[in-house]
Amino acid sequence: MTRLSKKDVLRADQFTRDDIDLILARASEYEAALASKRELDLLRGKILATLFFEPSTRTRLSFEAAMQRLGGRILTVSEAKSTSASKGETLHDTIRTVDGYADAIVIRHPDIGSAEVAARATAKPVLNAGDGAGEHPTQSLLDLYTIQKEQRKADGLTIALVGDLKHGRTVHSLATLLSQFKVSFLFVSPQTLRMPRGIVGRVQERGIAFRETEDLGHALGEADVIYMTRIQRERFADAAEYDRLKDAYVLTRAALVKAKPSITVMHPLPRVNEIAVDVDDLPGAAYFRQSANGVPVRMALLALLLS
Ligand code: CP
Repeated sequence: MTRLSKKDVLRADQFTRDDIDLILARASEYEAALASKRELDLLRGKILATLFFEPSTRTRLSFEAAMQRLGGRILTVSEAKSTSASKGETLHDTIRTVDGYADAIVIRHPDIGSAEVAARATAKPVLNAGDGAGEHPTQSLLDLYTIQKEQRKADGLTIALVGDLKHGRTVHSLATLLSQFKVSFLFVSPQTLRMPRGIVGRVQERGIAFRETEDLGHALGEADVIYMTRIQRERFADAAEYDRLKDAYVLTRAALVKAKPSITVMHPLPRVNEIAVDVDDLPGAAYFRQSANGVPVRMALLALLLS
């Protein structure tokens, strides 16, 4: 048993620094095991249900790869319309039902707070894979893992979070998680898409230095890590407002001339046009390594919660 056994993963602020160190150390072990093709069967006989009521490529598939790499099996729902939710079933009843089929449940859902609703319906571990514009805590763990691998540390870094900071659940969780480290933040967004005040307050409470700006060029010169995000079309009530903002920030190879040579460029993906494809083959372009890190990090989480 570990202190994470049987726990839910709902928000980034639930993790202590010891939890983070434990998860990421375990992820590093699993990454080495995967690289050496060592078979792991820690979760043989266990079943993970992945319930995705919103689209996903990385989160769902990396959770499923993680479970299978540990010898477990999966039950999956990849779209809401294929479930009885489309006939009016409540989330509570869906989770009560899946409780009878699986040992843990990963859920992505459009409503903020949906993972908490799911967690109240079952004693089995529930992992929040994105609740609307709320949080994405397992993404923040793999983001931190990536930062530590690419930059050899998190402490002392200046981290620029860029784009739709209002609706971007990945940046909400990442800002929260990184507030446990000695970082400083640059929050780069249009005025109407600023980081929610609740998260800014959490950063301030931790004594973390931060600045808010609309100017990506200004941030580029200072950042050790630049974390681009997509303007989240699906969260806009007004299509014209989305059209006005959708090209607010496009990171190009030419623009990166102003950046530190050691800069790490990240993106939770999917990208639309926030990072030009001519950036992809720069040494600091870490976003596809970042998405691959989802497998060992989610293996670590599943092993610690379920074994
Ligand atoms: N980063 C992330 O959540 O990607 P998906 O939407 O593809 O799962």
